[in-house]
Amino acid sequence: MKNVVISGSGLFTPEETISNEELVASYNQYVDNFNTEHADAISAGAVDKLEHSSCEFIEKASGIKSRHVLYKKGILDPAIMQPVFERRSEEQMPEMVEMALSAAKEAMAQAGKTAADIDLIICAASNMQRPYPALSIELQHHLGAHGYAFDMNVACSSATFAVSNAVNAIRGGTARVVLVVNPEFASPQVNYRSRDSHFIFGDVCTATIIEAEDTCSSDNAWRIKGMRLKTEFSNNIRCDVGYTEHCLAPDPLVPFFKQQGRKVFKELLPIVADVILTEMAAQQVGPEQLKRLWLHQANINMNIFAAKKILGRDPLPEEAPLVLDSYANTASAGSVIAFHKYKQGLQSGDHAILCSFGAGYSVGCLVLQKC
Ligand code: COA
Repeated sequence: MKNVVISGSGLFTPEETISNEELVASYNQYVDNFNTEHADAISAGAVDKLEHSSCEFIEKASGIKSRHVLYKKGILDPAIMQPVFERRSEEQMPEMVEMALSAAKEAMAQAGKTAADIDLIICAASNMQRPYPALSIELQHHLGAHGYAFDMNVACSSATFAVSNAVNAIRGGTARVVLVVNPEFASPQVNYRSRDSHFIFGDVCTATIIEAEDTCSSDNAWRIKGMRLKTEFSNNIRCDVGYTEHCLAPDPLVPFFKQQGRKVFKELLPIVADVILTEMAAQQVGPEQLKRLWLHQANINMNIFAAKKILGRDPLPEEAPLVLDSYANTASAGSVIAFHKYKQGLQSGDHAILCSFGAGYSVGCLVLQKC
């Protein structure tokens, strides 16, 4: 079987940031306004009084301190509480393609590839700005790449599932060099009026180049030794807004994102540990051989728990790097940001795990070895 590698990676980070302090101040102002406006109904027991959010809770429960967003305008205004931006025309690049183009260029430069080398582009993300034409095909057009492109969505596991599609395409002979992009334009899906989830997501885009080892010229390439994908249905992380929305009776309670965070924590982690340990056993890679764990970035406590299960001990900070503090949860891009930022300084032959997990449930695990 042909050896396939990740030969480059790229990252686009939006300039604007929102700190926990800013987010909590705006949320608490919204709560005070709401409680004043509904004071009579609250006293009569007809409406629940809203509680303040807190920076201490957010940092302790999630590890998040700040997040990047494409459009800060509107999010912090207690009367708006959503990003404010203009609809782009058909002649303009949609945000997700623009982000992807930037991350793609860095990944291609790292891998020493030009658009002429790429014959498959996969745009894999938790939300697509439009169903068609595929965002990946628009990206293909702007890059000037040949071949074919498609979009896919497995929520937070979109990136790892896309890499596995790329590997299969290369081994099956339908592509030689694949560009995978993960534009996560997550801020519009956030309900900034929900105390439970207003702090969770940030915007970002990652990109990777996947190719056969024999065409690779990169000096920091990672051989994909093993891949294990797993899904198991759960309603605990859901988005119910789809293309049929305008036909249905308007329901302001239908959220773009909702979750039962505690249940996710309890139910998903055993599946994650099982998938990773099973693939490590299949590849005959022991915990003592692992130099890095580039894990999904949803929650610091989840990452520490997963790392302990894999290593059999507490991880050193550099072994399981976190990007959550400054990026927040960036859905499918999280583990790839960790890979991109913390793949330096390792030796040929070193092993590592890149693993995503999230809605579905879905888990995607790659066992990697430095070339
Ligand atoms: N500020 C202050 N307090 C808050 C709060 C906020 N913003 N949000 C919730 N709380 C309170 C709750 O009301 C609750 O109070 P109670 O104990 O009096 O009932 C308490 O804090 C604990 O809430 P809980 O929701 O159980 O918190 P948690 O410790 O489970 O942390 C998450 C919440 C979402 C950070 C955590 O469950 C998580 O990250 N889960 C995994 C989610 C995941 O991976 N999702 C994948 C998405 S792609």
